[in-house]
Amino acid sequence: MSGTSLDGVDAVLLAIDGERYQILGTQTTPFTAALRQDLLTLHEAGHNELERSALIANTLSNTYAQAVRHLLENCGIKNSGIKAIGCHGQTIRHRPEFGFTIQIGNPSLLAELTGITVVADFRSRDIAAGGQGAPLVPAFHHAAFGHAGLDRILINIGGIANLTYLPAEGPVIGFDSGPGNMLMDAWIERQLGRHYDENGMWAASGEVIQPLLQELLAESFFALAPPKSTGRDLFNLSWLLPRLRTEYKAEDVQRTLLELTAQTIAAAIRDYCPKADEIYLCGGGAHNLALLKRLQQLLQPVKIGLSDELGISVNWVEAAAFAWLAQQTLKQCPGNLPDVTGAKGPRILGAIYAC
Ligand SMILES: Nc1ncnc2c1ncn2[C@@H]1O[C@H](COP(=O)(O)OP(=O)(O)O)[C@@H](O)[C@H]1O
Ligand SMILES: [Mg+2]
Repeated sequence: MSGTSLDGVDAVLLAIDGERYQILGTQTTPFTAALRQDLLTLHEAGHNELERSALIANTLSNTYAQAVRHLLENCGIKNSGIKAIGCHGQTIRHRPEFGFTIQIGNPSLLAELTGITVVADFRSRDIAAGGQGAPLVPAFHHAAFGHAGLDRILINIGGIANLTYLPAEGPVIGFDSGPGNMLMDAWIERQLGRHYDENGMWAASGEVIQPLLQELLAESFFALAPPKSTGRDLFNLSWLLPRLRTEYKAEDVQRTLLELTAQTIAAAIRDYCPKADEIYLCGGGAHNLALLKRLQQLLQPVKIGLSDELGISVNWVEAAAFAWLAQQTLKQCPGNLPDVTGAKGPRILGAIYAC
């Protein structure tokens, strides 16, 4: 899995035994600064995009293959012992409203480099069936974290934040609430040259700028009813910068961006998740203590836990989800939840690059 944060590749070795999921090994492979920059540039229209995209996809596949190699070395398992790699690819455009989403990566090359069957391009089929193609993790959240007697919410805070409502009875609800870490990451990188705000400490040193917060909250995406999904296409520095005034202090802007993430998640829960007994966080944003504290205030009296308590560490839920989705594809079982994505029906997702 490599998500919108562009921090790198998360790889897990997931053993699936019936409805039991066990993580046997994990591996994080950060992107090089050059690859990260190339990917960021590719998010915007530019010269000779097709060729650049193909070349970057090859570099990306080499990075994925390196992650797989290190993961399997650490676990002492041969490539021949692996059923398949579920490879999300790197989203460079997400435009379900125009009928497409693009995750680059070269699955053929990854299959050649590893000798392992690759399942890729998970989102396109759902979009072709009229859905958002996202979020796809709710089906795995349901399989791994659903509880017959409890209404649970999973909040995944990556670059974008998405939630999954797992009621004890009734359909699963899931959608993107808006930015997760992405705007905070972009702002601290621009101001202080750091990739992210460690534990949210910089944000915690600032004050919320109310007029700015209100202006950001006025974005029409937040008022849309689900199904809905978003990405860097909307929430990026070009969205933020025109709304800033020179008198704003940089740390106050960071605090306001944290507040935006927290409030839009809390509002999404209030509006669309009628009753929650338990709320769990996952994704890299779960490490942002200031964000966790703010979410806890907004969502009380329900106590917020981490997905670790449900058996999968916050760092690995999304990667595990794509291993599970690959299994669904190989079993010829659907991977989407039409109630979540808005697709016309359940669909077998992805393409198989067999070995
Ligand atoms: N210690 C930390 N403190 C604050 N934020 C963190 C910390 N560790 C990770 N993050 C955030 O998590 C992000 C990565 O989360 P991840 O779940 O991998 O997102 P994505 O799926 O978009 O790649 C980082 O960009 C950063 O914003
Ligand atoms: Mg990531």
